[in-house]
Amino acid sequence: MAYVLGIDVSTTATKAVLVDERGAVRGIGVSEYDFVSPRPLWSEQEPRLWWDGAQAAIRSVLASAGVRGEDVAAIGLTGQMHGAVLLDAAGDVLRPAILWNDQRTSVECEVIRRAVGPERLVEITGNDALTGFTAPKLVWVRDHEPDVWRQIAHVLLPKDYVRLRLTGDYAVDVADGAGTLLFDLAARTWSQEVLAALEIDPEWLPPTFEGPAITGPVSGQAADATGLRAGTPVVAGGGDQAANGVGVGAVAAGTMALSLGTSGVVFAPTDRPIFDPFGRVHAFCHAVPGRWHLMSVMLSAAGSLRWFRDTLAPGVEFADLVAAAASVPAGSQGLLFLPYLSGERSPHPDPLARGAFVGLTLAHDRRHLTRAVLEGVAFGLRDGLDLMVAAGMPAPDQIRASGGGTASPLWRQILADVLDAEIATVNTTEGAAYGAGLLAAVGAGWYPDVESAAGALVVATPSARPGPDVALYAEAHDLYRGLYPALVPYFHRT
Ligand code: XUL
Repeated sequence: MAYVLGIDVSTTATKAVLVDERGAVRGIGVSEYDFVSPRPLWSEQEPRLWWDGAQAAIRSVLASAGVRGEDVAAIGLTGQMHGAVLLDAAGDVLRPAILWNDQRTSVECEVIRRAVGPERLVEITGNDALTGFTAPKLVWVRDHEPDVWRQIAHVLLPKDYVRLRLTGDYAVDVADGAGTLLFDLAARTWSQEVLAALEIDPEWLPPTFEGPAITGPVSGQAADATGLRAGTPVVAGGGDQAANGVGVGAVAAGTMALSLGTSGVVFAPTDRPIFDPFGRVHAFCHAVPGRWHLMSVMLSAAGSLRWFRDTLAPGVEFADLVAAAASVPAGSQGLLFLPYLSGERSPHPDPLARGAFVGLTLAHDRRHLTRAVLEGVAFGLRDGLDLMVAAGMPAPDQIRASGGGTASPLWRQILADVLDAEIATVNTTEGAAYGAGLLAAVGAGWYPDVESAAGALVVATPSARPGPDVALYAEAHDLYRGLYPALVPYFHRT
């Protein structure tokens, strides 16, 4: 039996998932770590944690599955997107990596819009400047840490630091590359125009590869450190969202992915580089060659339900809380919930946006509040979907849902009604790491392309279809959409 290995370098752990030729997950190795916030709004991590984590996770999965390094045919990498990893000419780390959830760069976003021109920026990259992306982090280092800036010889994304240690190669895939805000979306490579406007040396940036392309073999030194075979091919892989799209089979236009974890993501493959003219949803390259994707990111999705439970129903099981909410009618008797508990990204890129319950009466009890939270999150996801459709994406046939929140049948039904699309669940639960494994399977020659790999190995089961409440929810969504503009002066004053 041969295997592929998908490695996910996430914000909280590095995970290695071993997948066999039939697509079954044969083992998972996990090594956890934390990120630090040395100042308000900052979020940083030492790259050595990722490499230590990768070595431990790989060793652990090979040992627990009883598989030899020689039996691993190829490796795919995925991980947290947007982080800035700065290295000197020797490949040594210059400062802790600045992560995707770091919020220090509002000023630098404005600097970038002015330097490139706000419309031109969206035209080239498909995106507006957001604090999460890599480019504002580089501009911040340029303007605040000139000593570090002078020594930079290489800029990498987090998973590509692990690639460097695994193979000695500097490389990036086009999906993660597009998340830097330094990419020409249509050309699927670095934009010389944006780099010049931001005074970033093109020599710092690694060569770009399509997701299933091999970037280089595991080195002898890395083989000793991990138990892998020297020479094992490593494919480019993809940023975590694109790799998750592959892992749930959202590889072609018409099939979308929705993930309902702490954050909520709506992910839509497209066959052309389309984008929202104001950059209110992200537009990146897909890990599938010749495909792109749109994506809306909501910061508190299942996170809103967790906050609600912990604050207003401590100790109550999620299943019981949600089951009780099923007994009140759709629309929560006029109660609306705004889920911007930690600010928002899409469709309102506003760190100062805040949550709210609006329309409370004496008739409402905890069941209505719970249902309003589930509905408010679905309305927020619908906002993202609407922007994608307005940008030219075809309305979806099926949405493949993953993440803790989708365990609830009520929430799945609300999503089907609010998004007016079939919601399906998939047979794989390892998301991005599994997707990286599928990209490796293509790189290993098991499948001719990513679509056939996903088609053969990912099985989707429809679990909710739009029902009689679609029209009622469309009206409620209209009211919901009016709340942010009405409340924003208040959010910005507090
Ligand atoms: C995507 C994003 C997150 C990070 C961390 O735009 O910011 O998905 O990649 O997981």
